[in-house]
Amino acid sequence: MSDTVNPAVIRRADYAAPAFLIDSVSLEFDLVPERTIVTNTMRLRRNPDAAAARLELMGEALEFVSAAIDGKTLPASAVRAHEHGLTIEDVPDAFTLTIESACNPGANTTLSGLYVSSGNFFTQCEAEGFRRITYFLDRPDVMTTFTVTLRADKTAYPVLLSNGNLIEQGDLPDGRHFAKWEDPFKKPSYLFALVAGKLVALEERIRTGSGKEKLLQVWVEPHDLDKTRHAMDSLINSIRWDEERFGLELDLDRFMIVAVSDFNMGAMENKGLNIFNTKYVLANQETATDTDFGNIEAVVGHEYFHNWTGNRVTCRDWFQLSLKEGLTVFRDQEFSADMQGGATDEAARAVKRIDDVRVLRQMQFAEDAGPMAHPVRPESYVEINNFYTLTVYEKGAEVVRMYQTLFGRDGFRRGMDLYFKRHDGQAVTCDDFRNAMADANGRDLAQFERWYSQAGTPRVSVRTAYDAASQRYSVTLSQGYGEAAPAARETQKGPLLIPFAIGLIDRAGRDIPLRLEGEAAANGTTRVIELTEQEQTFTFVDVKEPPLPSLLRNFSAPVIVEYDYTNDELAFLLAHDSDPFNRWEAGQRLATRELLALAARAQAGEPLTFDDSTVAAFSRVLTDETLSPAFRELALVLPSEAYLAEQMAEADPAAVHAARQFARKRLARALKNEWLAIYERHATPGAYEPTPQAAGHRALKNLALAYLAELDDPADAVRLANAQYEHANNMTDRAAALAVLLAASAAAGAGVAQGALDDFYRRFEQEPLVIDKWFALQATQRGSAGRPVIEIVRTLMAHPAFSLRNPNRARSLIFSFCAANPAQFHAADGSGYAFWAEQVVALDALNPQVAARLTRSLEMWRRYTPALRERMREALERVATQVKSRDVREIVEKALA
Ligand code: ARG
Ligand code: ZN
Repeated sequence: MSDTVNPAVIRRADYAAPAFLIDSVSLEFDLVPERTIVTNTMRLRRNPDAAAARLELMGEALEFVSAAIDGKTLPASAVRAHEHGLTIEDVPDAFTLTIESACNPGANTTLSGLYVSSGNFFTQCEAEGFRRITYFLDRPDVMTTFTVTLRADKTAYPVLLSNGNLIEQGDLPDGRHFAKWEDPFKKPSYLFALVAGKLVALEERIRTGSGKEKLLQVWVEPHDLDKTRHAMDSLINSIRWDEERFGLELDLDRFMIVAVSDFNMGAMENKGLNIFNTKYVLANQETATDTDFGNIEAVVGHEYFHNWTGNRVTCRDWFQLSLKEGLTVFRDQEFSADMQGGATDEAARAVKRIDDVRVLRQMQFAEDAGPMAHPVRPESYVEINNFYTLTVYEKGAEVVRMYQTLFGRDGFRRGMDLYFKRHDGQAVTCDDFRNAMADANGRDLAQFERWYSQAGTPRVSVRTAYDAASQRYSVTLSQGYGEAAPAARETQKGPLLIPFAIGLIDRAGRDIPLRLEGEAAANGTTRVIELTEQEQTFTFVDVKEPPLPSLLRNFSAPVIVEYDYTNDELAFLLAHDSDPFNRWEAGQRLATRELLALAARAQAGEPLTFDDSTVAAFSRVLTDETLSPAFRELALVLPSEAYLAEQMAEADPAAVHAARQFARKRLARALKNEWLAIYERHATPGAYEPTPQAAGHRALKNLALAYLAELDDPADAVRLANAQYEHANNMTDRAAALAVLLAASAAAGAGVAQGALDDFYRRFEQEPLVIDKWFALQATQRGSAGRPVIEIVRTLMAHPAFSLRNPNRARSLIFSFCAANPAQFHAADGSGYAFWAEQVVALDALNPQVAARLTRSLEMWRRYTPALRERMREALERVATQVKSRDVREIVEKALA
């Protein structure tokens, strides 16, 4: 089928330049929910680099009305509208094309293209939503300037927004009005946006580095205006940070953020008009937790940073997605770390680093080991929306971070400067970015390309040898992928360039100055050695006693390190490593080892025991007042059930849960007095402060409370939690208290939590984001007095506040249960899987993107114990026969293949 714009599998190797270019586009919208008319006038020109007689424009879910070339309406024989777009025969080399079409935003439940939410109009065009608005060359390498005229009823839609600058507005007959917007920058269609409706804005005027005045706006529904301050502050901080760290200034006179409650993802970087999920905008101390505040800062930063890394320089094709996403995640991570602790406080920065690595290891490493494994720059896809993944985003950010690890902050900055000098205004590839880094630093980075083309998580195994006579210490690193999933194995061609940061610690716990063989003198106490071959030995000299190695400091590469530390060595590193990340890491390794041993015993029906020295090691961290509360909290949280299950040869969620609960109870009992003391000492009386320091106190205090709830008699915890719930002046403390009451109800019965649960609902009935928390807390609970959580979830599905159409709500109940409550979801009777299958099918009919995300909770089915595996396969097969969307089919088919 030559006119099919969407063949089943899209391959990177098939990239071809567009046959036509668009010099400018003017769009006119008559906004009506049931039938919006779009008039699209484009200046088109044949691309000299490509040859094609006819013009193929992409279009989806559109009603074609008419088309005209240079003002002359085309006869029906010259134009053909079909399922994937519009084909026009025999066009001139340069011409003006005017197309009129209609769409139905009121009935658009996919939340892609133009849609209505709470009576207002919004758009989401990335990746391929623009073709649901009008016929277009909807691909990122076609960049053009946009002029947009919006017309709508003035009472229902008083605010009319689009990208760029407002150049004209006024009234029209019949109570309508219009606004005309012009974006001076060329952009691809995926960055187009419009918003229309009853909205109000928090406004601020600032001056940027060059002295120009800018208007900043955060647009929300009127009742949410009291929750916009933090987003505005985050935006201002982002603007300042990008100027300081990268010399990048805001290029528009006006920058707008708009919040919408129905949104598939987190947020979208449309030029000058960022559209956000309300979850990443709205916050005040009553409604948002410290985590929410941090997430808002990160996402506001992320979208703002896209203005340069994504918008000024964009992607040539969607295989290059990590070019903008990996780079922009790296930038937002650095921004958040700087906001935590400034550029130099390594201990404070480590808190952010640990959070990020936790997500990477728990979720991206799993993705890399499953049927959806793909390189940072994928080779093929069926549905591009399925590739907005942890690999493209988080592993992509690690790949970018490695340039900075190799070249330092200054070298990285030189690479960024060259990248913008070469490519501003262009649509480019990951290779272009790598070449800019290489050329700016005088390095050959050909081997580094493998980080973009090879899937799977590399393993680095470490052997060490000390020779007392010559005072030499050798470290042998060898790299490989272990037993990779077939999807990953195909891509693995050779060794990677791995920047491996290492330190050596003496018997007193001090860093040893490092001198590599051949060097004249010692130089620093952490060295980044570069592993480029399959195996290499690095020899340190002048090492006066057998040292303890601190490996992969600050997680300098996204790899798994294999080294046989003894428990005592891990406890020593936990107490002494000068690298805060590796201090935390040592505790996690220790805990993981103990917990996996416990899980094995649980599987075999053997009695569970927990090593006293491990308890002692954790106790020392807990009571070490030289460590920040935030760090202590991170160190005392045991590895998650999902991470532990992933480490087993065959994942057994029930055994993991039994093991982790046993360990929590053991730590609760052994350290009861410490937890009580911590709870008192870290109370934060008085006014709420959203600072990282105050958040650290709250985190540690609430962890103490959670451990106390694990005691056989949780009376103390219940009393403290009830008091905390009642007197809380912020959501962090209130939600934490409610979670503890729910946890205590696992043993003590539902009555323990019911009062607070009901109160929480009544108190926040008008705050959808808080009601999301109410659903999520119940979906992730352990079950009250033996009642399976699936029953509670099914009851909540019938709650009047539940809706499948709102992605946040669906995520809060369904995804929380299917993806964040493994022990209950993987119930032996398969009840969780049956529920999952029903919900995937129901969502598939409404919103394929959200359905596809849910589908992924079963993709790792082959990794589970045989009984579960069988039931999961049945559920997947049932779904395979019922779903319709390309999105869900790609996931199910890859999972079953
Ligand atoms: N570019 C957006 C971001 O900042 C994500 C948009 C993805 N949307 C989608 N439907 N795939 O990360
Ligand atoms: Zn992004």
